[in-house]
Amino acid sequence: MTIIADSQHDGPAPRAIPRHRGHWLWGGTFDFQRNPAEFVLEGHERYGDVFMTRVLTGHSYFIRDPDVVNAINVTHAKHIYKPKVVKQMWKPFLGNGLVPNDGESWRRQHRLIMPGFHKMRIDAYAPTMAEYTRDLVRGWKEGEQRDFRKEMVELTLRVVAKTLFDTDLAHDSETVHDAIQDISEALIDHAQTPIPAPRWWPSDRNRRMVRALDAMDGVIERLVSARRKQREDRGDLMSHMVFATDEEGGMSDKQLRDELMTLIFAGHETTAHTLTWAWYLLATHRDKLAKAQREIDITLRGRPIGVDDLRELPYLEMCLKESLRRLPAVWIYGREAQEDLRLGDYFFPKGSILAISPLAVGRNAAYFDNPLEYRPERWTRELERSLPKGAYVPFAAGPRVCLGKQFAMMEMRIVLGTLIQNVDINVLDGFEPDFLPELSLNPGERGMQMKVRFRNDAPVLAGDRPQSRPMPSLRAL
Ligand code: HEM
Repeated sequence: MTIIADSQHDGPAPRAIPRHRGHWLWGGTFDFQRNPAEFVLEGHERYGDVFMTRVLTGHSYFIRDPDVVNAINVTHAKHIYKPKVVKQMWKPFLGNGLVPNDGESWRRQHRLIMPGFHKMRIDAYAPTMAEYTRDLVRGWKEGEQRDFRKEMVELTLRVVAKTLFDTDLAHDSETVHDAIQDISEALIDHAQTPIPAPRWWPSDRNRRMVRALDAMDGVIERLVSARRKQREDRGDLMSHMVFATDEEGGMSDKQLRDELMTLIFAGHETTAHTLTWAWYLLATHRDKLAKAQREIDITLRGRPIGVDDLRELPYLEMCLKESLRRLPAVWIYGREAQEDLRLGDYFFPKGSILAISPLAVGRNAAYFDNPLEYRPERWTRELERSLPKGAYVPFAAGPRVCLGKQFAMMEMRIVLGTLIQNVDINVLDGFEPDFLPELSLNPGERGMQMKVRFRNDAPVLAGDRPQSRPMPSLRAL
């Protein structure tokens, strides 16, 4: 399929796009809001790879055709921005940080921040990630029940604090923790209410949100000003951002605050929830878990996992890729056409919302046979080579691809690898999580209940010395 130039409507007539009519006045607004994931998944089942509906006064298109997904993400990205409604939603929290930013201002910020995510810098965080995971596991007691999701949110927050600010947030941990909790709740509320209350509205939740934002702003301001005074690059992302300059100079304090807040938010819950789903899928597929355990045991022989071990752990990576296909934390993201666009066989008028759901994209039976099955083995080189661009997008793609993709993939392999090495991955007997398609797909208030069961000879219990656990043969893999 070829993509015909933007705004050029000659050539073959565009294909008609099936429409979900919904209510005569509201269109699909409330159908979407009632159960957004069901709406999108059923819509694609019923109408195909591209369908539309009216949401409030505008038109929203839901797209899982890989060529059109790729055109939106990559080839036509410069004509497509973040939706205004999404920017408004983020504004009180992230200001003009990378996620809601667009155009020249986004390009400049991206240029300034991107080198902070260089592989060498990221690799240097691996020992911290491994150490914090072992710390977490050391704090667990055999037989006790825990909410794995909560454990992961706390762990990833600790990792973000260390790698962003080079601080354990020892003095601020409670402030930051509570503030992030309150801000996250306010954000979800904000995202799910058609007309959210203004910031000055004297509701309890609003008051909590304003207090939380003030507290976070205070912590960030203090850390930035200390780093400016120290004039020392401590290897953390904040150092990079505080000292990054271009011909216009460095970032203002306000822009720095927005970017740091963005990284805290973009960087911890997404990772925590992906780890939660990876855990759940392994817990409910014991044969896959046994395979992952064997790979880890043979490769590590009881020592802590390091960044150089990761390339020797292909099955671990396959488990995560499959998990991101089946239950992607960022289950939907949106764009807005800045002009009339002809993308492949379809025409999208200026101003329309283009929604891509990695959850729906990953369930497309045209590219993933038996798509509801959890099968890490499907992630062969051949599959990766044969998949069209746009058929697997848990981190988006193109210029707006997730800036933390390498960071997240490394962190998740280190965390999950350490867990597999030390504990039995399980969910409590009879426990079924919820699947809440909020800002990120999460298991809701009941969390992911598990029972702590250490493996025999768990290295964390034996001071991380190499163990005598009998090594299975490589052929068993
Ligand atoms: C498994 C974990 C993660 C997933 C699934 C994920 C997914 C995504 C997706 C789908 C986007 C595009 C959203 C959109 O265009 O609306 C995105 C953007 C972004 N992510 Fe991630 N992310 C993860 C972890 C991280 C981490 C750890 C960081 C930082 C430490 C991070 C930083 C960002 C930033 C800064 C953007 C905006 C990039 C831009 O627009 O220039 N993410 N992420």
